[in-house]
Amino acid sequence: MGDYEQLRDPYGRIIDYLRVSITDRCNFRCVYCMPESGFPVTPKEESLTNEELVRLIGIASTLGMSKIRLTGGEPLLRKDLPEMIREVSKMPGVREISCTTNGFMLTQLAAPLREAGLTRLNVSLDTLKPERFEPIARRGSLQEVLDGIQAAFDEGILPLKINCVAMKGINDDEAADFASWTLTKPVHVRFIELMPMRWSLDETPSDFDAFAAHGEKGLLQLRQARGDMLSDSQMRRMFVSAETLQESIEKVHGPLEPAEIATNGPARTFRIPGAKGTIGFISQITNDFCSKCNRLRLTHDGFLRPCLMSDGELDLRTPIRLGASDNEIRDLFRHVVAHKPERHYLAEGQKVVGRGMSQIGG
Ligand code: 5AD
Ligand code: SF4
Repeated sequence: MGDYEQLRDPYGRIIDYLRVSITDRCNFRCVYCMPESGFPVTPKEESLTNEELVRLIGIASTLGMSKIRLTGGEPLLRKDLPEMIREVSKMPGVREISCTTNGFMLTQLAAPLREAGLTRLNVSLDTLKPERFEPIARRGSLQEVLDGIQAAFDEGILPLKINCVAMKGINDDEAADFASWTLTKPVHVRFIELMPMRWSLDETPSDFDAFAAHGEKGLLQLRQARGDMLSDSQMRRMFVSAETLQESIEKVHGPLEPAEIATNGPARTFRIPGAKGTIGFISQITNDFCSKCNRLRLTHDGFLRPCLMSDGELDLRTPIRLGASDNEIRDLFRHVVAHKPERHYLAEGQKVVGRGMSQIGG
């Protein structure tokens, strides 16, 4: 591994982490990510094949990108996922291969994924209350996701992280419940600040106000979103800061102590004294971690993107389909790294329109 080049961007950041969105399809329709219907899915021939993805990941690994995460859409929907993981985990430059999933198909897939070489897993879960699951994700069920998480535990896929997107009036009253989960299970709960990333420019026709009501009222308002996803302004109003969440956890569980786990990533991590798991906050809006960003993103259709939250990406699919050599592709990676933006400007009102989250990978 020491023989490989190490990519460094103009701001001195070492780029060693590639997130690959392997599909834009999803079996859920989370309100902050996709509309209920009518979301354009890419024709199959425009998505990269398993072979093409494996080739690009292999090239990235020779540039010192040693951590690979497969995301989506929902990556478990791709039937060739175990095969892809098997290939990637054989690459000498790859230290870590992980997946971010909604957990819905994990009961069947936890074992094959572990056998293929998956080293860690993030499961997205925004509520522990069964009646809230449907209004948020609009498909699937809480029980199925919890069974999937248990299956991952049974397979020993550790550490296991839970990504929870906090929304005012919808699930922000559950922070202490998620925290209680860490007392007895080695789960690493990460609260993620809601990012206003509506994929189209039009605001929702059903742009209703006041998401400030908890429980039934808040959920009712979500249902009234009439099948659309939330608008940017709704997402801005539903924003809950990491600080607020931490306060509500500490009210119930007492002061949290700082904790370190192997792959902290961008989260600030804490523990309830004596707990098995940890609690982290990913505050990309209020406390943006751009200065420590070590990532590039590859989309399922072969575009290399230097930043999640800024439009701008480079087409790798056309060159590889026209027969570009590995060295030529390596140059394109270097080019993207040389143009990585210093930071995002979401707090200043920046609008990301080129793609939605399910097309880039969260
Ligand atoms: N803001 C914050 N997180 C989001 N995700 C998807 N859309 C958003 C958004 N607008 C999260 C999902 C999942 C991960 C892939 O990205 O909940 O945890
Ligand atoms: Fe699917 Fe994830 Fe988007 Fe939810 S957030 S709709 S699970 S891609």
